[in-house]
Amino acid sequence: MNRSVRIASSILSADFADLGREIAASERGGADLIHVDVMDGHFVPNITIGTPVVKAIRRVTTKPLDVHLMIEEPDRYIDDFVAAGANMVSVHVEAVHHLHRTLTLIRNLGAQAGVVLNPSTPVVALDEIIADLDFVLVMSVNPGFGGQAFIPQALDKIRRVRGLLDRRGSAAPIEIDGGVDTSNAADIVAAGATILVAGHAIFGAPDAETAADPEAATRALRAAAFGAISRA
Ligand code: DX5
Ligand code: ZN
Repeated sequence: MNRSVRIASSILSADFADLGREIAASERGGADLIHVDVMDGHFVPNITIGTPVVKAIRRVTTKPLDVHLMIEEPDRYIDDFVAAGANMVSVHVEAVHHLHRTLTLIRNLGAQAGVVLNPSTPVVALDEIIADLDFVLVMSVNPGFGGQAFIPQALDKIRRVRGLLDRRGSAAPIEIDGGVDTSNAADIVAAGATILVAGHAIFGAPDAETAADPEAATRALRAAAFGAISRA
C-alpha cells in the first residue's frame, strides 16, 4: 500500500501580515503542500482570500499550492486561481451544478481536481465521478473557520471513501481537513488518509504567552502521522 503521507499547512491560522515567514517556517518543519482556504461569505459564513494572495504566495514557495474553494459558482474563478499558481483545486459537491464539467475544467487547466465532502455529504456523492477526480477531501469540521474540533465520525468516513476508491480501482489520495493535530494524526493515517491539512495545530499559538512555532509544530505533526505508518 502506498503510504506516503503529506502535510498540508493551512495558512488560514497564520499571521497574514507575515505570511512569507510563516510559510517558510512550516516548510523547514517539513510541510509538503500549502493549503489555501478561499471563502466567499456565501457558501460559508466567512470571507478570506482570493487570487492576489495566491499569486503572492506562489512567489515565496516552490511547494504545490492546494487551493480549497469554499465559494459559490467556482467555475467563474478556477481559471484565475490556476493562473495565479494553484496546483490542486478542490470544489464542494454542493457548490457546483455540474461536477463533471468543473473537474474537467480544472484538469484541462493542468491542475489536480479534488472533490470535497462536507461532514453531512454522503460518500455515495462520489459514485459517478470517481474516474474524473484526482483526490478526495473529507471535511472533518463544517467548513468556514479554523480551530474547530475534529468530528470523530470522519474516521469511519475516510475508511468508507478509501474502500469505495479501492473497489473502483482508483488510487486517488484522501485529504482530511479540520481539527487535525498530533492527537489524531495517527488514527487518521491508519484510517486511510494520506494528505493531512492543519491550520491551528501548525500556526496557532498554544496560549497567549507562547509564540507559535510553525516549524516545530509541523515537525511534530509529521512525526505523529508517520508514527502511524511504522506501527502499521
Ligand atoms: C476550514 C478550512 C480548513 C482550516 C483547518 O473550513 O477548510 O482548511 O484551515 O483549520 P484547522 O486545522 O485549524 O481546523
Ligand atoms: Zn481547507
